[in-house]
Amino acid sequence: MNLNLTTKKIQTDIEILFVKNKKIKTDKEILELLDFKGEEEESILLPELKKLYVGLPQSDDESIKIAVATAIKKLKSTNYKSASIKCKESLSAFIEGFELGNYSFKKYKSKKEEKEEINIYIEVSEITKEVQNEFEKFVSVCTSVNMARDFVNTAPDDFYPSVMAQEAIKIATNNELECKILDEDYLEENGMGAMLAVGRASRHKSKLIHLTYKPKKKSKKKIVLIGKGLTYDSGGLSLKPSDFMVSMKSDKSGGCAVLGVMNTIAALNLPFEVHGIVGAVENMIGGNAYKPDDVLVARNGTTIEVKNTDAEGRLVLADCLCYAQDEIEDIDYILDFATLTGACVVGVGEYTSGIMGNNIELNDTVVKYANEAGELATKLDFNRYLKKTLKSEVADVCNISSTRYGGAITAGMFLDNFIKEENKQKWVHIDIAGPAFVDKAWGYNSAGGSGAGIRMAVNFLENL
Ligand code: BES
Ligand code: ZN
Ligand code: ZN
Repeated sequence: MNLNLTTKKIQTDIEILFVKNKKIKTDKEILELLDFKGEEEESILLPELKKLYVGLPQSDDESIKIAVATAIKKLKSTNYKSASIKCKESLSAFIEGFELGNYSFKKYKSKKEEKEEINIYIEVSEITKEVQNEFEKFVSVCTSVNMARDFVNTAPDDFYPSVMAQEAIKIATNNELECKILDEDYLEENGMGAMLAVGRASRHKSKLIHLTYKPKKKSKKKIVLIGKGLTYDSGGLSLKPSDFMVSMKSDKSGGCAVLGVMNTIAALNLPFEVHGIVGAVENMIGGNAYKPDDVLVARNGTTIEVKNTDAEGRLVLADCLCYAQDEIEDIDYILDFATLTGACVVGVGEYTSGIMGNNIELNDTVVKYANEAGELATKLDFNRYLKKTLKSEVADVCNISSTRYGGAITAGMFLDNFIKEENKQKWVHIDIAGPAFVDKAWGYNSAGGSGAGIRMAVNFLENL
């Protein structure tokens, strides 16, 4: 698909039209005969009239994205080569609807489709500098979301920590970012025993990825983004049941989101220094595996009693958080993205991310910018009672809580042990376990990786 902006009416194979608020105004007779109601995700193609009608029962941005995605999916099932649509509403919603709704993952299909690309013309009243900039910005963000989706969807045998590091290097080269890839020797030398333990039984060596964007103008703020990059989570010796292991290639989604943001950061032209850090690790079993009962020492000296090797993401993040705070001075914000807990999915549903941290106002801000960007998010508050459930008899903390209730929050509170005093109010933890991977297509997401986290992070950065 090629997206184009135009001010002129272009003759195309098909014209896409919305039916707003379920009120059919044109071609009423035929649409009623065909029982078209104008519901969400409803579309009907009238080939003889060269028209594609889609329902738009509400007119907010999210509804527009869904309607546009419905249209492009319908068009993809045909052999039409061009289509046009009038844009009187938010241009960004049109772009996201087309670019995100058009995504499909075909890497492993042996029969390659040889369809010609469809040309889409979005008709706007004028193309000012601002309109052109908005167009380019949203196309860039969507390209990065789709890149992250590709990463997440790639099989774990083809996407392991060193592959993730190679992708990070490519992103750095394309966007003129600084890039550091640190290996297990570095982790060893710097006392990062928690992250190191998780990857120990894997044949793939763990990698710590650190990308840096420095603005051309003087930087006003410093933001650190950290991602859980478990390229596979078998659960380790606390092995996952078979059904729960399927889709755990998606446990790298937080890391992929961070790579996605870093891939679009240069296009945003932000006056901030942005760091993207990913702990890329594979959690496997074997004679060399870390075990329940082991005591690990994290980079900040905190000792951790392992009670469950499937609570590995927090161990990786613990050391990544310490690394970031040791290596980067005067941080303004630290955001971490992770598919951290099944409990978060149980608690808030599979469409929504859980937002946690010590700074309630900052959590609210993240929720607001996430929702505004089209990502559902809700706040989960810490409390003193849940904190006590992480106490250990033998070490400073346990890697799991003594209660199974409130599992998303206890995971977040575990991470708090690795946040320095001066950064307590600057940190937000974002559990994307629900929306990161789509079981059954919803909205403008097809099944598989969704790219969760990227649009919310971009919107947060843009509004700082
Ligand atoms: N990667 C999983 C969390 C997860 C579950 C992500 C479902 C996406 C979908 C994480 O490493 C994990 O296994 N967490 C455990 C924690 C438990 C052992 C305290 C969980 O959620 O069951
Ligand atoms: Zn796990
Ligand atoms: Zn995991």
